[in-house]
Amino acid sequence: MEPAQKDRTPFSDIDALSTQMSELVLDALTEMSRHPEIRRVRRAAYEALCPAAGQRLLDAGSGAGEVARLLAAQVGGTGEVLAVDHSSAVTAAAVGRHDDSNVRYLTGDVRTLDLPDDYVDGVWCERVLQHVEGADRAIAELVRVTRPGGRICLIDTDWDSLAFDGMPAGLGKVVLAHVSGHFTPQQADMGRTLRRRLVAAGLSGLTAIPVTCLFTSPASAAVVLPMVNPRVPEESWATPPGLRDEWLACVDAAGASGTFLAVLTIWVVAGTVPV
Ligand SMILES: C[S@@+](CC[C@H](N)C(=O)[O-])C[C@H]1O[C@@H](n2cnc3c(N)ncnc32)[C@H](O)[C@@H]1O
Repeated sequence: MEPAQKDRTPFSDIDALSTQMSELVLDALTEMSRHPEIRRVRRAAYEALCPAAGQRLLDAGSGAGEVARLLAAQVGGTGEVLAVDHSSAVTAAAVGRHDDSNVRYLTGDVRTLDLPDDYVDGVWCERVLQHVEGADRAIAELVRVTRPGGRICLIDTDWDSLAFDGMPAGLGKVVLAHVSGHFTPQQADMGRTLRRRLVAAGLSGLTAIPVTCLFTSPASAAVVLPMVNPRVPEESWATPPGLRDEWLACVDAAGASGTFLAVLTIWVVAGTVPV
């Protein structure tokens, strides 16, 4: 039997987390939005989706709503953005950060959206499908709610592309083996699978851009990579005794000597719903 969403990663069911972890996850979403490498990913997505004034857009798995509010600025007063997230805690946090832009915040599952057919002109779905059981079902749902000729933009991580330098390679492999499917989703290759999933869903005009994010300090990397983030509580690591501390000491040493390096590819894939 497939594991329930909540058994997989912290982002799969934020409402099931401890208060400490849920606050950490919310802070992480905000910090990620400010990170220059995530901004670079988003610029590529923005160009692929090409939002325009007057459109109704869906931000599926919208987190704290930063992207929804950016998109709302683009669609303007005659348009609208629907920000839908699985977690009611995250949706409440997004509402708490609301400005006066035209965003409607809803709690919902990307696999079973409570929206009519052909309802939106475009979809943004960022770093969500890697946490979802049944990504193709979610994509079919995004296609259903998008009007013919509308554009769907999927953004997802390829965790299998994660690589480090500056720390002992053997130790890094052991740590990654422990945290894969735990800090990071079991669907570790989601990013690279997006293009073929959109081909299978019948979309045309496909674009696929791999954006390789570069982190040259532990502090910069920790915003996106939980396995170098000392704020992630020790009990969440589920690593054998001593391994986390040994690894984080090596990460610190590499940071201090200026030799720390990490790379991670995030894919931006878009396509047009057939007319
Ligand atoms: C890594 S966060 C990304 C949030 C936002 N897209 C961003 O880029 O800041 C993943 C989000 O997906 C949401 N999520 C996970 N499974 C979902 C589902 N089945 N339906 C809707 N949202 C989901 C989580 O609650 C979380 O807010």
